[in-house]
Amino acid sequence: MTTHEGITQAADRLTDEIVALRRKIHEHPELAFEEQNTAARVEEHLRKLDIACRTGVGKTGIVALLEGARPGPTIAIRADMDALPITEPAGLSFASKVPGKMHACGHDAHTAIVLGVASMLAPLRAKLAGRVMFVFQPAEETLSGAAAMLEAGAFADPIPDAILGFHNWPQLRTGTVGWHPDAVMASSDAFDLALKGVGGHGAHPHLAVDSIVGAAQFVTQLQTIVSREIAPIASAVVSIGRIAGGTARNIIAPSVELSASVRTLDADTAARVEAAVRRILEGIKIGMRIDYELKWTKLTPVLRNDRATMTRVLEIARDTLGPANVVEMPSPSMGSEDFAWFAERVPSAHLRIGSKIDGHDTAIHRADYQLNEQMIPLAMKVMTRAVLGLLP
Ligand code: NI
Repeated sequence: MTTHEGITQAADRLTDEIVALRRKIHEHPELAFEEQNTAARVEEHLRKLDIACRTGVGKTGIVALLEGARPGPTIAIRADMDALPITEPAGLSFASKVPGKMHACGHDAHTAIVLGVASMLAPLRAKLAGRVMFVFQPAEETLSGAAAMLEAGAFADPIPDAILGFHNWPQLRTGTVGWHPDAVMASSDAFDLALKGVGGHGAHPHLAVDSIVGAAQFVTQLQTIVSREIAPIASAVVSIGRIAGGTARNIIAPSVELSASVRTLDADTAARVEAAVRRILEGIKIGMRIDYELKWTKLTPVLRNDRATMTRVLEIARDTLGPANVVEMPSPSMGSEDFAWFAERVPSAHLRIGSKIDGHDTAIHRADYQLNEQMIPLAMKVMTRAVLGLLP
Protein backbone atom coordinates (compact mmCIF):
# COMPACT_ATOMS: atom_id res chain seq x y z
CA MET A 1 0.00 0.00 0.00
CA THR A 2 2.87 2.40 0.64
CA THR A 3 4.20 1.54 -2.80
CA HIS A 4 3.88 3.98 -5.66
CA GLU A 5 1.19 1.77 -7.16
CA GLY A 6 -0.73 1.45 -3.91
CA ILE A 7 -0.78 5.23 -3.48
CA THR A 8 -1.96 5.74 -7.06
CA GLN A 9 -4.81 3.26 -6.59
CA ALA A 10 -5.85 4.79 -3.28
CA ALA A 11 -5.88 8.30 -4.79
CA ASP A 12 -7.90 7.14 -7.79
CA ARG A 13 -10.42 5.42 -5.51
CA LEU A 14 -10.85 8.59 -3.44
CA THR A 15 -10.97 11.11 -6.30
CA ASP A 16 -14.77 11.29 -6.69
CA GLU A 17 -15.29 11.78 -2.95
CA ILE A 18 -12.60 14.47 -2.68
CA VAL A 19 -13.76 16.34 -5.80
CA ALA A 20 -17.33 16.30 -4.41
CA LEU A 21 -16.00 17.66 -1.11
CA ARG A 22 -14.10 20.41 -2.94
CA ARG A 23 -17.29 21.38 -4.78
CA LYS A 24 -19.27 21.57 -1.52
CA ILE A 25 -16.63 23.87 -0.04
CA HIS A 26 -16.62 25.88 -3.27
CA GLU A 27 -20.38 26.46 -3.00
CA HIS A 28 -20.03 27.84 0.52
CA PRO A 29 -17.02 30.17 0.55
CA GLU A 30 -16.08 31.86 3.82
CA LEU A 31 -13.77 34.84 4.30
CA ALA A 32 -10.75 35.13 6.62
CA PHE A 33 -11.41 33.96 10.21
CA GLU A 34 -15.04 33.17 9.33
CA GLU A 35 -14.35 29.61 8.13
CA GLN A 36 -16.80 28.01 10.61
CA ASN A 37 -18.62 25.74 8.17
CA THR A 38 -15.45 24.79 6.32
CA ALA A 39 -13.73 23.94 9.60
CA ALA A 40 -16.76 21.86 10.66
CA ARG A 41 -16.54 19.93 7.38
CA VAL A 42 -12.80 19.37 7.92
CA GLU A 43 -13.37 18.21 11.48
CA GLU A 44 -16.13 15.81 10.42
CA HIS A 45 -13.90 14.23 7.77
CA LEU A 46 -10.97 13.83 10.19
CA ARG A 47 -13.14 12.35 12.96
CA LYS A 48 -14.50 9.77 10.51
CA LEU A 49 -10.88 8.78 9.87
CA ASP A 50 -10.33 8.59 13.64
CA ILE A 51 -7.68 11.32 13.50
CA ALA A 52 -7.53 13.41 16.68
CA CYS A 53 -8.00 17.13 16.09
CA ARG A 54 -7.70 20.35 17.97
CA THR A 55 -10.19 22.95 16.74
CA GLY A 56 -10.32 26.70 17.24
CA VAL A 57 -6.53 27.03 16.89
CA GLY A 58 -6.22 30.69 15.79
CA LYS A 59 -10.01 31.22 15.74
CA THR A 60 -11.10 28.73 13.03
CA GLY A 61 -7.88 26.75 12.47
CA ILE A 62 -7.52 23.01 13.01
CA VAL A 63 -4.45 20.96 13.93
CA ALA A 64 -4.88 17.19 13.57
CA LEU A 65 -2.42 14.43 14.46
CA LEU A 66 -2.21 11.00 12.92
CA GLU A 67 -0.16 8.82 15.25
CA GLY A 68 1.93 6.09 13.68
CA ALA A 69 2.41 2.78 15.49
CA ARG A 70 6.10 3.48 16.12
CA PRO A 71 7.91 6.60 17.30
CA GLY A 72 9.53 8.88 14.74
CA PRO A 73 9.52 12.43 13.38
CA THR A 74 6.44 14.60 12.89
CA ILE A 75 5.79 15.75 9.33
CA ALA A 76 3.21 18.50 8.87
CA ILE A 77 1.18 19.40 5.81
CA ARG A 78 -0.81 22.60 5.56
CA ALA A 79 -3.94 23.69 3.68
CA ASP A 80 -5.49 27.16 3.67
CA MET A 81 -9.29 27.42 3.90
CA ASP A 82 -10.42 30.99 3.21
CA ALA A 83 -12.13 32.55 0.20
CA LEU A 84 -12.12 36.07 -1.30
CA PRO A 85 -14.61 38.95 -1.44
CA ILE A 86 -15.28 38.44 -5.16
CA THR A 87 -18.63 37.67 -6.81
CA GLU A 88 -18.46 34.47 -8.82
CA PRO A 89 -20.12 34.66 -12.24
CA ALA A 90 -22.85 32.10 -12.97
CA GLY A 91 -21.86 29.06 -14.98
CA LEU A 92 -20.41 26.31 -12.83
CA SER A 93 -22.89 23.77 -11.45
CA PHE A 94 -21.15 24.23 -8.09
CA ALA A 95 -20.66 28.01 -8.28
CA SER A 96 -20.65 30.03 -5.05
CA LYS A 97 -24.03 30.33 -3.39
CA VAL A 98 -22.87 33.28 -1.32
CA PRO A 99 -23.10 36.64 -3.12
CA GLY A 100 -19.84 38.59 -2.94
CA LYS A 101 -17.72 35.62 -1.86
CA MET A 102 -15.79 33.20 -4.03
CA HIS A 103 -13.03 30.63 -3.78
CA ALA A 104 -11.01 32.51 -6.40
CA CYS A 105 -7.65 31.26 -5.12
CA GLY A 106 -8.44 27.54 -4.99
CA HIS A 107 -8.18 27.15 -1.20
CA ASP A 108 -11.30 24.95 -1.47
CA ALA A 109 -9.20 22.49 -3.49
CA HIS A 110 -6.24 22.82 -1.09
CA THR A 111 -8.47 21.91 1.86
CA ALA A 112 -10.02 18.95 0.01
CA ILE A 113 -6.60 17.71 -1.19
CA VAL A 114 -5.14 17.65 2.33
CA LEU A 115 -8.27 15.82 3.55
CA GLY A 116 -7.60 13.39 0.70
CA VAL A 117 -4.02 12.97 1.94
CA ALA A 118 -5.43 12.26 5.41
CA SER A 119 -7.79 9.65 3.90
CA MET A 120 -4.84 7.98 2.20
CA LEU A 121 -2.55 8.03 5.23
CA ALA A 122 -5.07 7.02 7.93
CA PRO A 123 -5.22 3.32 6.89
CA LEU A 124 -1.39 3.21 6.98
CA ARG A 125 -0.99 4.21 10.62
CA ALA A 126 0.04 0.71 11.74
CA LYS A 127 3.00 0.93 9.36
CA LEU A 128 4.08 4.50 10.15
CA ALA A 129 7.08 5.41 12.27
CA GLY A 130 6.27 8.94 13.39
CA ARG A 131 3.33 11.27 13.11
CA VAL A 132 1.59 13.31 10.47
CA MET A 133 0.28 16.72 11.46
CA PHE A 134 -2.50 18.23 9.33
CA VAL A 135 -2.72 22.01 9.56
CA PHE A 136 -5.91 23.67 8.27
CA GLN A 137 -5.29 27.37 8.32
CA PRO A 138 -7.72 30.28 8.28
CA ALA A 139 -7.12 33.75 6.85
CA GLU A 140 -4.30 33.23 4.37
CA GLU A 141 -5.64 35.99 2.15
CA THR A 142 -5.16 38.56 4.88
CA LEU A 143 -1.75 37.04 5.74
CA SER A 144 -2.85 36.66 9.34
CA GLY A 145 -4.00 33.06 9.88
CA ALA A 146 -0.62 31.32 10.17
CA ALA A 147 0.64 33.75 12.80
CA ALA A 148 -2.65 33.38 14.71
CA MET A 149 -2.30 29.59 14.70
CA LEU A 150 1.30 29.71 15.91
CA GLU A 151 0.35 32.14 18.63
CA ALA A 152 -2.40 29.72 19.68
CA GLY A 153 0.18 26.94 20.03
CA ALA A 154 -0.21 25.07 16.74
CA PHE A 155 3.43 23.99 16.95
CA ALA A 156 3.64 23.76 20.74
CA ASP A 157 3.36 19.98 21.07
CA PRO A 158 4.69 18.37 19.03
CA ILE A 159 6.98 20.68 17.07
CA PRO A 160 6.97 19.31 13.52
CA ASP A 161 10.31 18.27 12.01
CA ALA A 162 9.24 19.59 8.61
CA ILE A 163 6.21 21.14 6.97
CA LEU A 164 4.91 20.82 3.42
CA GLY A 165 2.76 23.35 1.60
CA PHE A 166 1.50 23.91 -1.92
CA HIS A 167 -0.57 26.22 -4.04
CA ASN A 168 -2.43 25.44 -7.23
CA TRP A 169 -1.07 27.48 -10.14
CA PRO A 170 -3.39 28.18 -13.08
CA GLN A 171 -0.54 29.34 -15.34
CA LEU A 172 1.19 25.96 -14.94
CA ARG A 173 0.08 22.97 -17.02
CA THR A 174 -1.97 20.39 -15.09
CA GLY A 175 0.24 17.37 -14.49
CA THR A 176 3.28 19.50 -13.67
CA VAL A 177 4.74 20.78 -10.45
CA GLY A 178 6.79 23.98 -10.12
CA TRP A 179 9.39 24.73 -7.50
CA HIS A 180 11.91 27.35 -6.43
CA PRO A 181 15.32 26.48 -5.04
CA ASP A 182 15.36 29.12 -2.31
CA ALA A 183 13.11 32.16 -1.88
CA VAL A 184 9.62 31.38 -3.19
CA MET A 185 7.58 34.42 -2.28
CA ALA A 186 8.27 37.89 -0.92
CA SER A 187 8.03 39.26 2.58
CA SER A 188 5.14 41.62 3.10
CA ASP A 189 5.28 44.65 5.36
CA ALA A 190 2.49 47.20 5.56
CA PHE A 191 2.58 50.73 6.85
CA ASP A 192 -0.11 53.25 7.67
CA LEU A 193 0.92 56.84 7.99
CA ALA A 194 -0.69 60.07 9.07
CA LEU A 195 1.14 63.27 8.10
CA LYS A 196 0.16 66.11 10.38
CA GLY A 197 0.41 69.78 9.44
CA VAL A 198 -1.76 72.70 10.47
CA GLY A 199 -4.97 73.55 8.63
CA GLY A 200 -5.86 77.01 7.41
CA HIS A 201 -7.31 79.20 4.66
CA GLY A 202 -6.09 78.34 1.18
CA ALA A 203 -5.23 81.98 0.60
CA HIS A 204 -3.03 82.21 3.72
CA PRO A 205 -0.54 79.32 3.42
CA HIS A 206 2.01 81.16 5.60
CA LEU A 207 -0.36 80.75 8.56
CA ALA A 208 -0.73 76.97 7.98
CA VAL A 209 1.51 73.91 7.48
CA ASP A 210 0.39 72.15 4.32
CA SER A 211 0.25 68.41 4.80
CA ILE A 212 -0.62 67.81 1.12
CA VAL A 213 2.69 69.33 -0.02
CA GLY A 214 4.38 67.18 2.63
CA ALA A 215 2.63 64.07 1.31
CA ALA A 216 3.69 64.94 -2.24
CA GLN A 217 7.32 65.26 -1.08
CA PHE A 218 7.08 62.01 0.82
CA VAL A 219 5.65 60.02 -2.11
CA THR A 220 8.31 61.44 -4.44
CA GLN A 221 11.19 60.77 -2.04
CA LEU A 222 9.88 57.26 -1.45
CA GLN A 223 10.70 56.48 -5.09
CA THR A 224 14.40 56.91 -4.36
CA ILE A 225 14.45 54.01 -1.89
CA VAL A 226 14.26 51.25 -4.50
CA SER A 227 16.12 53.20 -7.20
CA ARG A 228 18.97 54.66 -5.07
CA GLU A 229 19.28 52.73 -1.82
CA ILE A 230 18.59 49.08 -2.63
CA ALA A 231 21.23 47.14 -4.55
CA PRO A 232 20.17 46.69 -8.19
CA ILE A 233 20.25 42.89 -7.93
CA ALA A 234 18.16 42.85 -4.75
CA SER A 235 14.37 43.01 -5.05
CA ALA A 236 12.02 45.45 -3.39
CA VAL A 237 8.64 47.02 -4.07
CA VAL A 238 7.29 50.06 -2.22
CA SER A 239 3.75 50.93 -3.30
CA ILE A 240 1.40 53.52 -1.84
CA GLY A 241 -2.07 52.12 -2.42
CA ARG A 242 -4.14 54.70 -0.61
CA ILE A 243 -3.87 58.43 0.00
CA ALA A 244 -6.55 60.63 1.53
CA GLY A 245 -6.55 64.21 2.73
CA GLY A 246 -8.32 67.53 2.46
CA THR A 247 -11.94 68.58 2.22
CA ALA A 248 -12.21 71.66 -0.01
CA ARG A 249 -10.17 73.67 -2.53
CA ASN A 250 -9.79 76.69 -0.27
CA ILE A 251 -8.84 74.84 2.93
CA ILE A 252 -5.30 73.75 3.60
CA ALA A 253 -5.49 70.13 4.73
CA PRO A 254 -4.34 69.62 8.32
CA SER A 255 -3.53 65.96 7.70
CA VAL A 256 -3.05 63.32 5.01
CA GLU A 257 -3.30 59.55 5.46
CA LEU A 258 -1.36 57.06 3.39
CA SER A 259 -1.27 53.25 3.32
CA ALA A 260 1.50 51.29 1.68
CA SER A 261 2.76 47.81 0.94
CA VAL A 262 6.44 46.81 1.01
CA ARG A 263 7.70 43.56 -0.57
CA THR A 264 11.25 42.19 -0.48
CA LEU A 265 13.06 38.89 -0.89
CA ASP A 266 15.29 39.12 2.18
CA ALA A 267 15.08 40.45 5.71
CA ASP A 268 18.06 42.78 5.26
CA THR A 269 16.38 44.59 2.34
CA ALA A 270 13.12 44.82 4.31
CA ALA A 271 15.01 46.43 7.21
CA ARG A 272 16.69 48.91 4.83
CA VAL A 273 13.35 49.98 3.36
CA GLU A 274 11.86 50.52 6.81
CA ALA A 275 14.88 52.53 7.98
CA ALA A 276 14.73 54.68 4.83
CA VAL A 277 11.00 55.39 5.26
CA ARG A 278 11.60 56.46 8.86
CA ARG A 279 14.57 58.65 7.86
CA ILE A 280 12.61 60.37 5.05
CA LEU A 281 9.78 61.09 7.52
CA GLU A 282 12.23 62.63 10.00
CA GLY A 283 13.57 64.78 7.15
CA ILE A 284 10.09 66.00 6.28
CA LYS A 285 9.41 66.71 9.94
CA ILE A 286 12.52 68.90 10.23
CA GLY A 287 12.41 70.39 6.75
CA MET A 288 8.68 71.02 6.45
CA ARG A 289 7.43 71.11 10.07
CA ILE A 290 5.12 68.18 9.35
CA ASP A 291 4.79 65.68 12.15
CA TYR A 292 3.84 62.06 11.54
CA GLU A 293 2.37 58.94 13.07
CA LEU A 294 3.62 55.70 11.54
CA LYS A 295 2.28 52.21 12.16
CA TRP A 296 4.53 49.51 10.68
CA THR A 297 3.23 45.94 10.48
CA LYS A 298 5.23 42.86 9.51
CA LEU A 299 2.59 40.75 7.76
CA THR A 300 4.79 37.88 6.70
CA PRO A 301 8.48 37.06 6.21
CA VAL A 302 10.03 35.76 2.98
CA LEU A 303 8.91 32.23 2.17
CA ARG A 304 12.09 30.21 1.80
CA ASN A 305 12.37 26.51 1.04
CA ASP A 306 14.71 24.26 2.99
CA ARG A 307 17.15 22.69 0.55
CA ALA A 308 17.30 19.18 2.04
CA THR A 309 13.53 18.95 2.45
CA MET A 310 12.93 20.28 -1.06
CA THR A 311 15.48 17.88 -2.57
CA ARG A 312 13.65 14.91 -1.05
CA VAL A 313 10.23 16.23 -2.14
CA LEU A 314 11.50 16.81 -5.69
CA GLU A 315 12.83 13.25 -5.94
CA ILE A 316 9.34 12.05 -5.05
CA ALA A 317 7.58 14.50 -7.40
CA ARG A 318 9.83 13.42 -10.31
CA ASP A 319 9.17 9.78 -9.56
CA THR A 320 5.41 10.41 -9.37
CA LEU A 321 4.91 12.71 -12.37
CA GLY A 322 8.00 12.06 -14.49
CA PRO A 323 11.16 14.23 -14.43
CA ALA A 324 10.00 16.46 -17.32
CA ASN A 325 6.90 17.46 -15.34
CA VAL A 326 8.80 18.91 -12.38
CA VAL A 327 9.94 22.36 -13.45
CA GLU A 328 12.08 24.95 -11.76
CA MET A 329 10.18 28.25 -11.81
CA PRO A 330 12.08 31.14 -13.44
CA SER A 331 11.88 33.61 -10.56
CA PRO A 332 10.28 34.03 -7.16
CA SER A 333 7.00 35.91 -6.91
CA MET A 334 6.77 39.31 -5.22
CA GLY A 335 3.41 38.15 -3.93
CA SER A 336 3.32 36.83 -0.37
CA GLU A 337 2.11 33.71 1.39
CA ASP A 338 1.88 33.45 5.17
CA PHE A 339 2.95 29.79 5.09
CA ALA A 340 6.25 31.66 5.50
CA TRP A 341 5.60 31.93 9.28
CA PHE A 342 5.51 28.11 9.52
CA ALA A 343 8.54 27.85 7.22
CA GLU A 344 10.44 30.24 9.47
CA ARG A 345 9.94 27.85 12.42
CA VAL A 346 10.64 24.50 10.78
CA PRO A 347 12.25 23.24 7.53
CA SER A 348 9.75 23.45 4.70
CA ALA A 349 9.05 22.77 1.06
CA HIS A 350 6.39 24.66 -0.86
CA LEU A 351 5.30 23.56 -4.32
CA ARG A 352 3.27 25.12 -7.10
CA ILE A 353 0.93 22.50 -8.49
CA GLY A 354 -0.19 23.07 -12.09
CA SER A 355 -3.96 23.62 -12.39
CA LYS A 356 -4.30 25.09 -15.88
CA ILE A 357 -7.46 24.47 -17.89
CA ASP A 358 -6.37 24.32 -21.53
CA GLY A 359 -7.70 27.29 -23.48
CA HIS A 360 -8.71 29.22 -20.36
CA ASP A 361 -6.22 31.96 -19.48
CA THR A 362 -6.80 33.08 -15.94
CA ALA A 363 -5.03 33.86 -12.70
CA ILE A 364 -5.77 33.60 -9.01
CA HIS A 365 -7.92 36.35 -7.40
CA ARG A 366 -9.95 36.91 -10.56
CA ALA A 367 -13.69 36.31 -11.02
CA ASP A 368 -12.95 34.11 -14.06
CA TYR A 369 -10.50 31.98 -12.05
CA GLN A 370 -11.10 28.24 -12.25
CA LEU A 371 -8.88 25.28 -11.57
CA ASN A 372 -8.56 22.01 -13.43
CA GLU A 373 -9.93 19.33 -11.10
CA GLN A 374 -7.60 16.78 -12.64
CA MET A 375 -4.92 18.36 -10.48
CA ILE A 376 -6.69 17.10 -7.34
CA PRO A 377 -5.74 13.38 -7.53
CA LEU A 378 -2.27 14.33 -8.79
CA ALA A 379 -1.73 16.62 -5.82
CA MET A 380 -3.02 13.91 -3.45
CA LYS A 381 -0.48 11.44 -4.86
CA VAL A 382 2.49 13.82 -4.78
CA MET A 383 1.75 15.19 -1.32
CA THR A 384 0.97 11.79 0.24
CA ARG A 385 4.19 10.33 -1.14
CA ALA A 386 6.10 13.44 -0.01
CA VAL A 387 4.86 12.99 3.57
CA LEU A 388 5.78 9.29 3.50
CA GLY A 389 9.15 10.13 1.95
CA LEU A 390 10.03 12.39 4.87
CA LEU A 391 9.16 9.69 7.41
CA PRO A 392 11.71 6.89 8.04
NI1 NI B 1 -4.06 31.46 -2.37
